[in-house]
Amino acid sequence: MVKDARPPTVAETATERPGRVRLRLREIEAFYGQIQALRGISLDVHEGEIVTVLGSNGAGKSTTLKTISGLVRARQGEVELEGESITRLAAHEIARRGVVHVPEGRRILRGLTVQENLELGAFTVKDPALRRQRLEDVYARFPILHERRHQDGSLLSGGQQQMLAMGRALMHGPSVMLLDEPSMGLAPKLVTEIMRIVKQLNEAGTTILLVEQNARLALRLADYAYVIENGEIRLHGAAATLREDASIIKAYLGLGEES
Ligand SMILES: Nc1ncnc2c1ncn2[C@@H]1O[C@H](COP(=O)(O)OP(=O)(O)OP(=O)(O)O)[C@@H](O)[C@H]1O
Ligand SMILES: [Mg+2]
Repeated sequence: MVKDARPPTVAETATERPGRVRLRLREIEAFYGQIQALRGISLDVHEGEIVTVLGSNGAGKSTTLKTISGLVRARQGEVELEGESITRLAAHEIARRGVVHVPEGRRILRGLTVQENLELGAFTVKDPALRRQRLEDVYARFPILHERRHQDGSLLSGGQQQMLAMGRALMHGPSVMLLDEPSMGLAPKLVTEIMRIVKQLNEAGTTILLVEQNARLALRLADYAYVIENGEIRLHGAAATLREDASIIKAYLGLGEES
């Protein structure tokens, strides 16, 4: 585990991690106008891992994901997929390469049915047979979406909307899924259900970068964790190591009392 590393010494711990580096951020700086949201974020996601990015409100978690998926442009630094820079690619091109973003707040389109929301998710897939196959796969994974396929997607419950948002991402056939606070606003039982699904997706071969405010939950699921504070990595290490250190949870995440 590395505390207060400046610059973050990711390489130091990389040898302990399985698989090749799938996604790498090097010294990313990102701005909203004059406001600097990311101040040199470096992190690695290895093939097959669940990596979590933790941090309090406004720390820069969502911006980190948006920089990867091309929704926010890095002013400095590089995002690499399999060693190749994707920093300046358009968002749809990044999705086509298998890096798919499930945004905070789910962004289900009102006025469209569940199925239409899913079909929209498949815009990168040209082959109709493959689109059909993916739709069947999503319905097999989320039977409730099949049941509700003709209903307006925005009328689903929070948990079902999260499933729809994840289903829409799966329509791309992602190799890397960027998940932004999937548990937000859900009842505990549904949180458990969503996390079980995340685990299953990972076991089926999807590499996952998971943003969470619920640190304890994320550390139970993840292999490796980064803690962001004010746009910088403050701490990173194996999730099991961070999980066992209650003082870390308290000092860096302030979530000691959560389940
Ligand atoms: N569209 C925007 N315009 C201006 N500033 C923004 C915008 N989006 C985010 N910010 C600012 O950038 C910083 C990082 O925000 P970000 O959304 O990445 O944080 P976060 O860690 O995802 O927080 P949360 O837990 O609230 O989702 C914050 O200071 C935030 O106020
Ligand atoms: Mg956020």
